Amino acid sequence: MNVADNLLVSIIISLLAVYVKCEFSFTSMLSSGLSKIHTIIEYGQCNFVECCSNEYISSELDKLDYTLSEELYGQDIAHHVVINALRGHLISSNPPKALSLSFHGPPGTGKTYISQMIAKFLYKKGDQSTFYHFFNGRNDFPLQEKVNEYKGELYKIIINSLQKCERSMFVFDEVDKMPEGLLNVLVPFLDYNMWIKSWRSASSSINTRKAIYIFLSNTGSSRITQRLITLWSEGKQRSEARLQDFENLISIGAFNEKGGFYRSDTIDSSVIDHYVPFLPLEEAHVKKCLKKAFANRGINPSNDMIEEGLSYVTFGPPPHNLYATAGCKRLEQKVAAIVYAKNKERLEF
Ligand SMILES: Nc1ncnc2c1ncn2[C@@H]1O[C@H](COP(=O)(O)OP(=O)(O)O)[C@@H](O)[C@H]1O
Ligand SMILES: [Mg+2]
Repeated sequence: MNVADNLLVSIIISLLAVYVKCEFSFTSMLSSGLSKIHTIIEYGQCNFVECCSNEYISSELDKLDYTLSEELYGQDIAHHVVINALRGHLISSNPPKALSLSFHGPPGTGKTYISQMIAKFLYKKGDQSTFYHFFNGRNDFPLQEKVNEYKGELYKIIINSLQKCERSMFVFDEVDKMPEGLLNVLVPFLDYNMWIKSWRSASSSINTRKAIYIFLSNTGSSRITQRLITLWSEGKQRSEARLQDFENLISIGAFNEKGGFYRSDTIDSSVIDHYVPFLPLEEAHVKKCLKKAFANRGINPSNDMIEEGLSYVTFGPPPHNLYATAGCKRLEQKVAAIVYAKNKERLEF
């Protein structure tokens, strides 16, 4: 090659280098521009619709903790187990498995109430959040013969929800009224299983470990009550009762009593993280519920009004009759009737 050829080759090489450099920086500019546009669109969208972002998933656990200490009566064990479990789970951006809690106890002791409170402080939109899913065993899954159909539906709902937001929360109320075997469909979501492939697009998979599952039932109630009576007869205060006094007792009960957990793989494979006992409520707790129900109507109740409210509450089991059989359930309605009668009396005189 002569000098001219050499010059030509080096000019071509330089031009090529400049072109490649420009092309590269143009492509990266384009992609960073596109990603910025995407962020702006997403940001704009999130002003109007709920997004799976920190803005909408606020996880205000300190506020939840405070509210539980003020407004959940007589359930110290449940309060602390729930708060610690949620803290442990939510603090991690990559928890080892989905959080699963199983609440057990007599009716009207606060199981549904606390679940709604968790949703309220977890999501900005509270229990109206599209990431919060509430199923009722009796209403949503009434027929044993349709268990396979329900399983398919439930699986799809969960996959769909996790695709929208991995920090979804699923509450299953009245598990004891669910068809046997239905909850087995949840095992892959609750296990130490990391990713599930989406059936829609083979390329995307879902992280199942950030979700929260809560199961509510009355199974184990009589065992919990009996254990509390035993502690009471040994002279122990309610505040001295510990989770260990109840935990095993409940899991055995849940597994052996009829309902959604009956002989279930969900229990068998130990995918439930915490069995949470809800203790039967005493007269002092019911009085607090009555006071609150009156206060909700702007009334500061007299002792007579509280006593009247209490007269509707039955206590058991015999012979000690220490606990309200239906806890604080339906007290709002009783209070409404008392207030109505009082107002009527006043108008007639
Ligand atoms: N431990 C509690 N502390 C305060 N209020 C309670 C408690 N338990 C029940 N309540 C009141 O009674 C209502 C019914 O309780 P709920 O949570 O539905 O009972 P369950 O344990 O059967 O799910 C609640 O909405 C709440 O107003
Ligand atoms: Mg309930």
